[in-house]
Amino acid sequence: MDKILIRGGQPLHGTVQVRGAKNSTLPLMAASILAEQPCVLHNVPCLHDVFTMDKILSGLGMRIEFTGRYMTLDASSLDSPVAPYDLVRKMRASFFVLGPLLARYGKARVSLPGGCAIGTRPVDIHLKGLEALGAKLTVEEGYVVAEGALTGTEFTLDFPSVGATENLLMAACRAQGMTRLNNVAREPEIVDLAQFLNSLGARISGAGTDLITVVGVDALGGAEHTVIPDRIEAGTFLIAGVATRGDVTVLNANPDHLPSFLNKLRDAAVEVEVQGTRIRARATDGFKASDIITQPFPGFPTDLQAQMMAMLCVADGVSVIKETVFENRFMQVAELARMGADIALDGNAAVVRGVKKMCGAPVMASDLRASAALVIAGLIAERGETAVSRVYHLDRGYERIEERLAALGADIQRVREG
Ligand code: UD1
Repeated sequence: MDKILIRGGQPLHGTVQVRGAKNSTLPLMAASILAEQPCVLHNVPCLHDVFTMDKILSGLGMRIEFTGRYMTLDASSLDSPVAPYDLVRKMRASFFVLGPLLARYGKARVSLPGGCAIGTRPVDIHLKGLEALGAKLTVEEGYVVAEGALTGTEFTLDFPSVGATENLLMAACRAQGMTRLNNVAREPEIVDLAQFLNSLGARISGAGTDLITVVGVDALGGAEHTVIPDRIEAGTFLIAGVATRGDVTVLNANPDHLPSFLNKLRDAAVEVEVQGTRIRARATDGFKASDIITQPFPGFPTDLQAQMMAMLCVADGVSVIKETVFENRFMQVAELARMGADIALDGNAAVVRGVKKMCGAPVMASDLRASAALVIAGLIAERGETAVSRVYHLDRGYERIEERLAALGADIQRVREG
């Protein structure tokens, strides 16, 4: 196992290219199950979660080639609609294969994902929606076994779950007749998925609003598609720049995908400049506290909450952070406290009192975004060395983060543990 060593205290400066979005790539890969001709994805990030999805789809019998940022996916050889536990448990997004498998083959057997560090994360909305579309579902030995021809319906999600919206959207593409999905997620990744499906021949309208309408078609062809930029990665680099009182510009980003995040930076007295696909955040004179509530898009993204908390640890003033999307997403707090942060937890709220300085410490990553928060705290720390272990969490969602931070002036390196 690797760990990341950081000697902080240097302001980060410079530009960094944003990669393709992990959270778009995974459902796009799953959606290619529906395509009767090969698909090509461009701007695919080289991440562990992408490799896991590759293994799942290859296990179904699909042919996948991944060279650099370019991936071809061919579902014509798919012969086994089964997603096994040992892969699904590694990555919840594996569950995305359920909807498209059922829609195309009329049957699927997909392991239930189980909980994870940030909460129990049930899949009840995915299952209720598929049942509403006519699927017969049973749970056998930890697997969801789904069968049946799908028929268009009207269904209202209890919560605008991103994953459930994606699963149901993919399933509805091949259902007989029209489906109306109410209270769906509006995240940019949903819009990206709908655009890809439409380019395969699907008839989806309303993606990006809370009502999506899908008119089922008999077959979907192939298509080429470019994955949207990763808004969470863009946000993470900008936060790292601000937290170190630096000046960082992200390139190839989409500012429209980060509305409330950019507003929060501005609230914190950070100078934010947007020019096309470039976003620059400058905090060379410091920054202020800011209150945050995580919410589904277009609200503040839960996937940037931990990183923002690390930054606010050294803001001028007191910030209150409320997490409303996940039940247990403050895993970074105890580790940040070991580095000198002053954070009090009260249920789903954290009160962060800005301190003047933080210090390095050995810390342990617990999940993807909490790990990014610890790296940011390490970059802030003016004394001592930070050693972040369990780096595999980071590799799920950031491509060679240490090299890209080093290019911005950070003293950071990856070493083999043990
Ligand atoms: C996706 C993202 C993840 C992000 C999250 C919220 C991917 C691969 N992952 O995760 O990075 O943090 O959106 O923006 O795109 N819920 C239920 N029942 C369900 C489904 C969800 O109760 O059937 C609950 C979850 O436990 C959670 C909340 O709804 O509390 C949001 O989950 P959801 O939007 O589904 O997140 P994911 O799709 O898992």
